[in-house]
Amino acid sequence: MALKVGLLGLGTVGTGVAQILSDAVGRSPLLEQLTIHRVGVRNLDKPRSVQIPSDRFTTDLNAIVTDPDIDVVVEVIGGIEPARTYILEAIARGKHVVTANKAVIARHGAEIFDAAKEAGVNVLLEAAVGGGIPIIHPLKHSLGGDRINTITGIVNGTTNYILTRMAQEGADFADVLADAQRLGYAEADPTADVDGFDAADKLAILASLAFGGRVNLDDIHCEGIRSISATDIRYANRLGFVIKLLAIAQRLGDDNQLSLRVHPTLLPSDHPLAQVDGVFNAIFVEGEPIGQVMFFGPGAGEGPTASAVVSDLLNIAAFAVSGNTGDTLDPMMSNSHKEYGAIAPIETLATRFFVRFSTFDKPGTIGKIGTLFGKNGVSLESVVQTEVTDEKAQVVVVTHQVKEGDFRAALGAIEQYDNLATVANVLRVVS
Ligand code: HSE
Repeated sequence: MALKVGLLGLGTVGTGVAQILSDAVGRSPLLEQLTIHRVGVRNLDKPRSVQIPSDRFTTDLNAIVTDPDIDVVVEVIGGIEPARTYILEAIARGKHVVTANKAVIARHGAEIFDAAKEAGVNVLLEAAVGGGIPIIHPLKHSLGGDRINTITGIVNGTTNYILTRMAQEGADFADVLADAQRLGYAEADPTADVDGFDAADKLAILASLAFGGRVNLDDIHCEGIRSISATDIRYANRLGFVIKLLAIAQRLGDDNQLSLRVHPTLLPSDHPLAQVDGVFNAIFVEGEPIGQVMFFGPGAGEGPTASAVVSDLLNIAAFAVSGNTGDTLDPMMSNSHKEYGAIAPIETLATRFFVRFSTFDKPGTIGKIGTLFGKNGVSLESVVQTEVTDEKAQVVVVTHQVKEGDFRAALGAIEQYDNLATVANVLRVVS
């Protein structure tokens, strides 16, 4: 019995999905169990690069989610509304849902998964994080026997592309962003990417899967890359680090609190994530007993994202051909947890810091900075004066591990001495 698929959207990802389904040779034999029954688009007259009979097209997307013949709805229109409404309507009508929409899942996942559980259908989202990289299924299945302690991800290709070019060319953020926009690597409105919000959506999804608790998006501490300068990258390099926008989810100690944060981070140059450049994504998972495992690949794009969507469709097809009628939930595929995870405030995070001061080049300045950090309980790992320009010296400090709240208090004390130093940038450092 072939499953009838209703496709909401035939943009980049939808086209990629249709292409895979219409060209099954050499792929899974289960693809024969899937047929595109209807396709919802905005414009019926737009030329399409994929062959689908014209009578399957409609501009009425609601007619697809309410069509009793359709078994699975693939939502690839993106955005919050009307995507959320269509997903909920499809679920209410007993249809499985496959979505690539991280924004709707990160904000409305609780409502969507409750509804899916109630209706006995699956909502699968492999394409929502890391594009073509298999990470959702591995977290649910392959790593199900592991206690996950930390997930560290480069999950936004736009910012990784910008930071990589800044590092390679010694260029500043604004120049590279403008060029990336010109080349189509960054959106005209880059906010979701460069301010870290896209990465935070993806982190909310990864953390809820890895740690078995729902995540409130507002609890994720989020900083983007606008403040990063070519100077920061250059000094970080000299100290043996690269700068990456990392999404980090970490189980803290025994009290089961989670630290969830997105921020530009100094990472040792020999860390596996430090080698991930350009638009690529990677997710580094540390668990027990697995140890460390990294998932690397294309984080966006037509083919990779469609590959992830189709993998979800194949899971649903496999479930259907194994004799399940569709009203039985696969517990490994569902997101059934109910409780929200306890999130530790950023002030309680223990981490190392990189601080770049711009100071007057006067005797005793470095000593004074060191003394003030010491007096305020912050131990320093290294202090380097790198260069003098326009009578200002660049002094770069890397601290030992310190609670963020204590570090900020110490920095506040140093900033009182405004004739001594201005703080050019503060970044966290991971090992
Ligand atoms: N805007 C995202 C990125 C792609 O730059 O990685 C899709 O999630």
